[in-house]
Amino acid sequence: LTVDVEAGHYDTGGYEHYLLKEISEQPETVARTLSGRLDERFHIAHLGGLNMDARETRSFRRVKIIGCGSAYYSGQIGAQLIEELARIPADAEPASEFRYRNPVVDPDTLYVAISQSGETYDTLAAVQELKRKGGRVIGIVNAVGSAIAREVDGGIYLHAGPEVSVASTKAFTSTAIAFALLALHFGRVHDLSPAEGRRIVDGLAKLPAQIEEILEQGPAIAELSRKYAVHPSMMFVGRVRGYPVAREGAQKLKEISYIHAEAYPASELKHGPLALIGPELPTVAIVPDDELLDKNLTTLGEIRARGGRVLMIGHREPGAKLADDVIVVPRNEIELDPILLTIPLQLLAYHAAVALERDVDKPRNLAKSVTVE
Ligand code: AGP
Repeated sequence: LTVDVEAGHYDTGGYEHYLLKEISEQPETVARTLSGRLDERFHIAHLGGLNMDARETRSFRRVKIIGCGSAYYSGQIGAQLIEELARIPADAEPASEFRYRNPVVDPDTLYVAISQSGETYDTLAAVQELKRKGGRVIGIVNAVGSAIAREVDGGIYLHAGPEVSVASTKAFTSTAIAFALLALHFGRVHDLSPAEGRRIVDGLAKLPAQIEEILEQGPAIAELSRKYAVHPSMMFVGRVRGYPVAREGAQKLKEISYIHAEAYPASELKHGPLALIGPELPTVAIVPDDELLDKNLTTLGEIRARGGRVLMIGHREPGAKLADDVIVVPRNEIELDPILLTIPLQLLAYHAAVALERDVDKPRNLAKSVTVE
């Protein structure tokens, strides 16, 4: 299978699937998203495409993020980054819901629309409704010159290159990075100190090499995928920064392997889904080394006590009592860790789909961009 993209010729580049190619090229695509945007002198981000001066940037009281599917989950990571680094209230909502609920359009809110393709109809319709009501909308978009890119007032291009596989991977990662740049930018025009700005700039600069380190674990992750792919259903859990990661992990798995997957905030398990836990339902737990580590380890203990198997994605080995298997990823700054924690989940889903002989790049019932209602 080869696809002609714009003027260039695009093929799998020797990889078995586009998906593996797109997962594997993330060190370069991330470097392109960051290129020319990190200022190591003033510890700021250069985002000229926003078309917004400092005074206007300071004028927004809230940020509302909209996108569909994986774009929405990357928006949840984005909302947390903006709240943490800029202390501006932010939240994400599926664009497909937003557009149908006659939203109140607030002049003090900055709206951010996310789309890899720039052609998703639900997101485009939401942007058009916002514009009709006088909302200020920026885009985080991969496809240059696409419908959403043309409709917004400004934005950030991902420069991740064409994404062919239906499952989004490199665009998801680059979108989360674009949000980190946006949060740094907002933070530095508000109260984020130069020292804190430097911490984030340095963290962002480290990401391409750290993604490379995770990709080197590909063969070990493939083995784990084969082990877990025998289960018809899996639970994904994470707390706060880990929750959107869990949602994206579950989305990738169900989309390409057709294994049923549920994602829950780890804190919600005891409010219902703990009833499902047992030897037949394994859990993938996102456990970063942040201030919630102890709480997350307690959750692992609760799952294990009910006979549940645990595959932990985190920064350390918690011991055989708490997890059956562990994928250890390199640490960055706690706010940026969700970006790295997502990469093994892409590989996990990919290898599960291969093990189950699925149509990896073109899963049943799905299209790369949903341009209809
Ligand atoms: C991602 O793996 C999915 N294929 C899907 O959720 C996708 O992210 C969504 O349809 C939005 O697409 P867009 O980014 O092109 O707007």
